[in-house]
Amino acid sequence: MHDTLLLFGATGDLAQRYLFPSLQHLLRDRLLPATFRVVAVGRSEYDNDGFRAWLRERIQNDDDRETRALEDLLGRITYYALDLNDADAMAKTLSQYADRPSVSYLSTPPDLFAPACRGLKAAGLLEGESRLVLEKPIGRDLASAREINNTLKSALDEKRIFRIDHYLGKAPVQNLLALRFGNTLMEAVWQHRWIESVDILVAETAGVDGREGYYANYGALRDMVQNHMLQLLALIAMEPPAALDADSVRDEKTKVLRALRPMSAADAAIDSVRGRYSAGVVDGEAVKGFTHDSDVETFVALRAWIDNWRWAGVPFRLVTGKRMPSRTTEVLVTFKPTSHWVFERPSKKRARSNRLRMRLQPEETIELGLMGSLAAPEWGATELQPMSLDLSMSPTPHRRIAYERLMVDALKGDQTLFVRDDEVEAAWRWIDSISDAWRDASTPAQEYPAGSWGPSAASSFLPATLSGNGHRKKAT
Ligand code: BG6
Repeated sequence: MHDTLLLFGATGDLAQRYLFPSLQHLLRDRLLPATFRVVAVGRSEYDNDGFRAWLRERIQNDDDRETRALEDLLGRITYYALDLNDADAMAKTLSQYADRPSVSYLSTPPDLFAPACRGLKAAGLLEGESRLVLEKPIGRDLASAREINNTLKSALDEKRIFRIDHYLGKAPVQNLLALRFGNTLMEAVWQHRWIESVDILVAETAGVDGREGYYANYGALRDMVQNHMLQLLALIAMEPPAALDADSVRDEKTKVLRALRPMSAADAAIDSVRGRYSAGVVDGEAVKGFTHDSDVETFVALRAWIDNWRWAGVPFRLVTGKRMPSRTTEVLVTFKPTSHWVFERPSKKRARSNRLRMRLQPEETIELGLMGSLAAPEWGATELQPMSLDLSMSPTPHRRIAYERLMVDALKGDQTLFVRDDEVEAAWRWIDSISDAWRDASTPAQEYPAGSWGPSAASSFLPATLSGNGHRKKAT
């Protein structure tokens, strides 16, 4: 395990909210080497003590153990204010850390990736076994993603490049793999013959607040679907990998992404809805609308088709939005109805198909919806009712931040939960087809009040299990 982490963007929001707290937790749990050290690089002028004081104020500590771990972390940090465009300054200041293999983590805007690589190279920090971790977004479309990938490739080989999608670090997301490939029951039915549809919903109550600049250039399609939602889709739809190593898993995910049917302008009106929130009420609080003068969407509903043997004809409905009524991330797999119905009650029409519902956030639950008989129907015959088999795990004492797992994997050199170059490009190719289709069909972003489940036109895209959705119709 490498013991040197160079963190660029150290005074940024992500670093203070997730990256440093992750390191604190890993130190608390003794999951990092004794010699672990952090070189923090930011734009603000601090000396070491100034930076430590700044960070101490921003990290919460619930108990003594946490406080001790934080002090331990702060003691391991050396801070530098550096301009990443200045390769000479980077080389001069950072080359002392090339004494052993390191991990450089770029938590910076993507336009700094190329200059940062030049500086790191000049400092000798991309040689040998040293690795590079990159935060999203990897580009804004296929062309820019390729440009970034080419820049990276000219600095170091793919085996040492770690592109983060923090959804892959979430324990419930990894549980999708466990559920699919650790159970015969799933293996038998996981295909178009038995599955009617798959819903993937990532709803957030938060708005765009504070990130207008970035968001106005991306929108929900590029911010959420290209990465997190397509990763979920790929894990659900991929063929079983021969092994759980990085390339076996990523080969299978890439094949799924390549099999996504590109969207045409003619399909845009049928298979997609764009939305944008206006003022409304979320969690009992009045909130403003998203009024930036760009045309980006804060809500997307898509019907995706995977043109391969396993999934032919099965709609994958992807819905994500900001300022929704609740924070919910869930996957709903709806099975086909039974082939022949012999019960009088309920009628065949009212019988409910089996469903596997995996909720990933805010809490992790897994439920299997089955039909069972009502204990004692008054009218004296067999009557069925929907029943739910709860497969949820008991909650763990503390839920890990997704970045904890990813940091450990990057320090160890395990790329399984990181995104490969061809995978990123396959995802962008499909996303580009959608943004082109929207442009050609002039698909508008329809308004929805904050606190609702998106524009009414999206009702047929929403999972049937959602409660409190006034305008929900039967999903197709
Ligand atoms: C980020 C997006 O990648 O993921 C944000 O840029 C979004 O817009 C966030 O809010 C959601 O992540 P999580 O872990 O809170 O579901």
